[in-house]
Amino acid sequence: MASVNSLSASIQQRVADALGADPLLRRSDRADFQANGVLGLAKRNKANPRELAAQVVEALPAGDELIASVEVSGPGFLNITVADAAITRTLAARAADDRLGVPAKAAPGTTVIDYAQPNVAKEMHVGHLRSSVIGDALVKILEFEGETVIRRHHIGDWGTQFGMLIQYLVEHPHELDHGASEAGEEAGEASMSRLNRLYKASRTVFDADEEFKTRSRKRVVDLQAGDPETLAMWQRFVDESKIYFNSVYDKLDIEIRDEDVVGESGYNDMLVETCKLLEESGVAVRSNGALCVFFDDVKGKDGEPVPLIVQKADGGFGYAATDLSAIRDRTADLHADTLLYVVDSRQALHFKMVFETARRAGWLTNEVTALHIPFGTLLGKDGKPYKTRSGETFRLVDLLDEAVERAATVIREKSSELTDEEVADRAKEVGIGAIKYADLSTSLGRDYVFDLDRMVSLNGDTSVYLQYAYARIQSILRKAGDTKPAAHPELPLAPAERALGLLLDEFAETLAGVSETYEPHKLASYLYALASAYTTFYDQCPVLKAETPQLRENRLFLCDLTARTLRQGMSLLGIRTPERL
Ligand code: ARG
Repeated sequence: MASVNSLSASIQQRVADALGADPLLRRSDRADFQANGVLGLAKRNKANPRELAAQVVEALPAGDELIASVEVSGPGFLNITVADAAITRTLAARAADDRLGVPAKAAPGTTVIDYAQPNVAKEMHVGHLRSSVIGDALVKILEFEGETVIRRHHIGDWGTQFGMLIQYLVEHPHELDHGASEAGEEAGEASMSRLNRLYKASRTVFDADEEFKTRSRKRVVDLQAGDPETLAMWQRFVDESKIYFNSVYDKLDIEIRDEDVVGESGYNDMLVETCKLLEESGVAVRSNGALCVFFDDVKGKDGEPVPLIVQKADGGFGYAATDLSAIRDRTADLHADTLLYVVDSRQALHFKMVFETARRAGWLTNEVTALHIPFGTLLGKDGKPYKTRSGETFRLVDLLDEAVERAATVIREKSSELTDEEVADRAKEVGIGAIKYADLSTSLGRDYVFDLDRMVSLNGDTSVYLQYAYARIQSILRKAGDTKPAAHPELPLAPAERALGLLLDEFAETLAGVSETYEPHKLASYLYALASAYTTFYDQCPVLKAETPQLRENRLFLCDLTARTLRQGMSLLGIRTPERL
């Protein structure tokens, strides 16, 4: 595991030594890099910036193995061109490493990430898509960087709504019995339709029958008191729902491990104590019987303060009590130093109040970062939240199926030599990849339009475009036969080769930026830029027909490193890269 000094880091160092200050280096259109740090230093020292810049140029050993040339431009910018050999050598060092020269964190911490949290006995909808896809990518990226990541699927598996369902099941015990031969996806669908049927039936009785209503309310009390028969019935709902969730996650190609599913019910034993601690410390106060936490800056339209309600006046615990208990568990027991919550932006106020409460109570200390990673809504082409024609929210499975179908059409049109089975396999990788990529390439917090036509398009910023770039490279590598990729630093580079090379060298820095701000879209846009640079290279620089064997090997080397970088990057986003398309 060798971490590789990027070209920008090496140059940064070199110029910093010559300047005696931060050169403020960045990529530039004028040259490979531009350093703007001269201006600030000249201002601080009351010196002439162009003269200072000229001195730095003097002091820099240009024409050496790292820097090919330095020029002063404008008011005192330094335009720096990297030596071709340095590019190729740096890339060779990346290629020699399994991790492509991405360093593992020197001092990894423990991050608990709360994501992919559907609700028991309910259909998963598009809102659950984003949390799952973004969360899964963040898990992969953070783990790749060496962080200890604990996943928590905070499923909605507790609350008063279970009283009615459980009571109905007690009275109709065969409603959740299974058919004989259910497996895989079918089992998931069958589970959900049983749950739906049961929900509708119990709702009908609940609304019509006062006595059933009373029995249902009594069930809630039994559930909270931990009555064994009631708990056993509740468990059947949870188990049934997990069959369904797992089938959807299978389809989404996202791994959910059972031990990481710790839903709201998992904190039940802590709720009383959480309230007691809050009340005793004065962080929460009783208001009209409810246990509340107040905030100076949280007020309703009427100007009245809006509290966080930890316990309702009837003694019931709410969403906040569970989340506060979960924070205690995640900090004190799991020893997290970072808490992430990948949840819909509409819950921003909830998390703001929960975090603030936990800070006041001392459960969140200065050593712990708690962050809500909010995401926006999926919109229809009309710019309104994505709904079916009859105005219902889309079932997530239907969306996924449709994406896979569209992908099959695209693949069939493009590659006629694939068998039906191959088309079906690729369609899953392409269709699901398209949905994930569209989601991950949107900056967090923003709403985006769910447009399948655009998502599975071969052109533009789509996963299909990236997957084709990858598959095309694999096809070249296969055709190369005995000619193996090999770096030749002695060869000068064509403009398209340099552009591709400089971008390949940015992979590690891109990842570092992504895990610092938890923004997967930066990785997506990097990969798109990389695939685009590859396309230009491919158009301008013949690979297998290159003039000399060395040139052929060096170009194959660039192809190979591009493919590996695309594959690694896509896999961190949870997207497959088929070898053939
Ligand atoms: N189950 C919730 C929903 O479907 C999301 C849970 C978010 N996580 C949390 N710790 N509150 O909206």
